[in-house]
Amino acid sequence: MQRNILITGGAGFIGSHVVRRLVHQYPNDQIINIDALTYAGNLMSLQDIQMLPNYTFVKADITDEQFILSIFEKYQITHVVHLAAESHVDRSIHDPLSFVKTNVIGTANLLNAARIVWKDNFGNKKFYHISTDEVFGSLGEQGMFSESTPYNPHSPYSASKASSDHLVRAYFDTYGLPVVISNCSNNYGSHQFPEKLIPLVVNNIVTRKNIPIYGAGNNVRDWLWVEDHARAIDLILSEGKLGETYCIGGNNEWKNIDLVKLICTLTDELLGRENGDSISLIQHVTDRLGHDQRYAIDATKLENELAWKPTQDFPQALKETIQWYLNNQDWVNAVTSGEYQKFYSLNYK
Ligand code: NAD
Ligand code: DAU
Repeated sequence: MQRNILITGGAGFIGSHVVRRLVHQYPNDQIINIDALTYAGNLMSLQDIQMLPNYTFVKADITDEQFILSIFEKYQITHVVHLAAESHVDRSIHDPLSFVKTNVIGTANLLNAARIVWKDNFGNKKFYHISTDEVFGSLGEQGMFSESTPYNPHSPYSASKASSDHLVRAYFDTYGLPVVISNCSNNYGSHQFPEKLIPLVVNNIVTRKNIPIYGAGNNVRDWLWVEDHARAIDLILSEGKLGETYCIGGNNEWKNIDLVKLICTLTDELLGRENGDSISLIQHVTDRLGHDQRYAIDATKLENELAWKPTQDFPQALKETIQWYLNNQDWVNAVTSGEYQKFYSLNYK
């Protein structure tokens, strides 16, 4: 059966990797990418696939009720991979309501369009919601998040994502809408907007700006290569059980300060600068409000049920990621002009 797969937020970081993967893997499926092209959405990231016959882009806002309904009808959507979101924690602290609008109302609107257009004919349909490990809150020194961890979000971003997860489950329980959810840890790789830690640090090293570390830099994140996430999404879209949640992680925990020092060393090496040159740019700044201490994912369920595992050797994949940013300065310059400068001065005053 041909799938008509609606991907939301496909011009963003993870979305662009998912779109590219599915377009190449499934030439007999149609991939319809809708994206509002906010500051975080960039069609430059998809230039290599834009002419392929099984790919369509439509500029659309997921909160637009009538337009979203018309897209479901026009393209006879059978599957949804929902990635569109406001995704940056710091921005959610400055402007929480836009997170509620996109992440909560936008998700409700998509669920509702699926319910209306698919009616009672849910066979062979799937609504796949992409979520985050941040909905589970913060860990201490020990333990890991899994599918049974209770929700305890702290930032407006994570609270809005938690709300959207609850809505997805409510549509399963109430209407039987065929849904599946995954909650993933921090991704790294090419095409990530340089407001997020790794590309921000690389960009600041290139431009010799201070590298802002929140607080002491002892917070821990579990880093996963974005292509490994895209592969997990592909698997869960095809084989994930309806009504289930899958946790996805890299089994790759790093303290921010150690990670930033490693990025400094690798970037200096790639730029031919003296070892230690960039470490002097590190500046400890006021901590993020409500900063979660540690995230770590136990991905055993995904490994056991769908035979997924992360593939990358971290220092090597990180080095390749840094090289991508160094080789693609046009992409970086395009996204760091204008609006980015305003956000940067607001966030790092
Ligand atoms: P991103 O900010 O890079 O991309 C988000 C995309 O959504 C952009 O292309 C943007 O234009 C689009 N968008 C925003 N508002 C929209 C709207 N109202 N209508 C239509 N499109 C809109 O985000 P990302 O890092 O690629 O994250 C994608 C998804 O994965 C999000 O749902 C996020 O919560 C989740 N996630 C991200 C990570 C991570 O480490 N980046 C980890 C786990 C889960
Ligand atoms: O865990 C998954 C989440 O990972 C996703 O849901 C989010 O969309 C994604 O943005 C990411 O959230 P984080 O807040 O963990 O990522 P960020 O890159 O913003 O920050 C990583 C860590 O680095 C975090 O502890 C805060 C710290 N940091 C970040 C920035 C931008 C700094 O110390 N300085 C900075 O300037």
